[in-house]
Amino acid sequence: MASTALDPVLTAPTIGGLTPIKPDPLLALIALCNDDPRPDKIDVGVGVYRDAAGGTPIPRSVKLAEQRLWQQQDTKSYMGGRGDMGFVARLRPIVLGRHAGDARIDGLQTPGGCGALSLAFKLIAKANPAARVLVGTPTWPNHIPVIETAGLEIATHKFYDVATQSICFDEMLVALDAGRPGDVALLHGCCHNPTGADLDNGQWDRVVEVVARRALLPMVDFAYQGLGRGLDEDAYGVWAVLDACGEALVAQSCDKNFGSYRDRVGSLFVKTATKDQSSAAIGHCAQIAREMWSMPPDHGAAVVRVLLEDAALAADWRVEVGEMRDRINSVRGRIAASDPRLAYIAGQFGMFSMLPLTPEKVRSLRERESIYMADSGRFNVVGMSDASLDRFIAAVVAAL
Ligand code: LMR
Repeated sequence: MASTALDPVLTAPTIGGLTPIKPDPLLALIALCNDDPRPDKIDVGVGVYRDAAGGTPIPRSVKLAEQRLWQQQDTKSYMGGRGDMGFVARLRPIVLGRHAGDARIDGLQTPGGCGALSLAFKLIAKANPAARVLVGTPTWPNHIPVIETAGLEIATHKFYDVATQSICFDEMLVALDAGRPGDVALLHGCCHNPTGADLDNGQWDRVVEVVARRALLPMVDFAYQGLGRGLDEDAYGVWAVLDACGEALVAQSCDKNFGSYRDRVGSLFVKTATKDQSSAAIGHCAQIAREMWSMPPDHGAAVVRVLLEDAALAADWRVEVGEMRDRINSVRGRIAASDPRLAYIAGQFGMFSMLPLTPEKVRSLRERESIYMADSGRFNVVGMSDASLDRFIAAVVAAL
């Protein structure tokens, strides 16, 4: 088209000067799998619970709460920057257990666990920009950009060895022991993502002892409560941290255990020395949130609140979490029994484990078998239906 005098003149591009970046690997995998027309494709990439039929149904307790909310809710007017405080209050006994009544712990609603992590790291960067974040690797890939965007330095140590399929516990303790006061210890509360390798209670006690003695700030990512050993059992580490440490942060997600993935439901809890300090910290979180999303989306959190306000629905939700957990553990057992090289999978927890596969083997599984998993070899233990489990196991064993 011929240019006219009214055309804007671009001297140097600004936004147009950005070069393309590699998309987030897990989100890229979702897109690749969606585009695959093969009907027997198996998606063990992103962490979404699937039942024996391969579906991700809305839990019945959540569906009932949602119906009730729809009938009762008569406004969608703003709730405020901290979100639905009834939701936060109802979560406290589940997430904080014996610490639920501790007035030094304050909280707010966030868009999923990722929103809570983002707020937490930005809060830390405000309070102590010199803090380093001690990160055991491998970790959830999105931890790294979230911490970097907050402007904090990362110091990594090895948490897990895929060759031996075991936790590098001594290396973890040495790394934490070398932390400076105020450094942040990023800890996975349960169902470690991506390895499934959880600390046992004795190991938690030792980690917590080092964190408290070195005056580190524990930041617990708690996204899979109930999907490992049980709702209370999975909280052992969180509660031990709160027992021992004067300050702590817990980034929590309801996305998995309430099946509310796309509704983005989570919370952040902050513990400091006093009620006033925690309330001030949460005030800063609300301001940081204001700059990013202003107020968290209401619907999913309101559903969780309605559910937890009703004793019968709450009891049924606990049953449903147990059903998800039982399925995860039974599929783990079946995979582990298929080949001695996969036996370690039975001793791990939650949705993920790592397979000792090179990225090339992972790519070949994708191309030849239409099996989608992360390049790291992380796979979602309950990504496939019962009907496709044997095919998955056979393909993996052949690739080992
Ligand atoms: C995962 O690790 O697959 C989930 O936490 C989903 C996500 O956002 O990455």
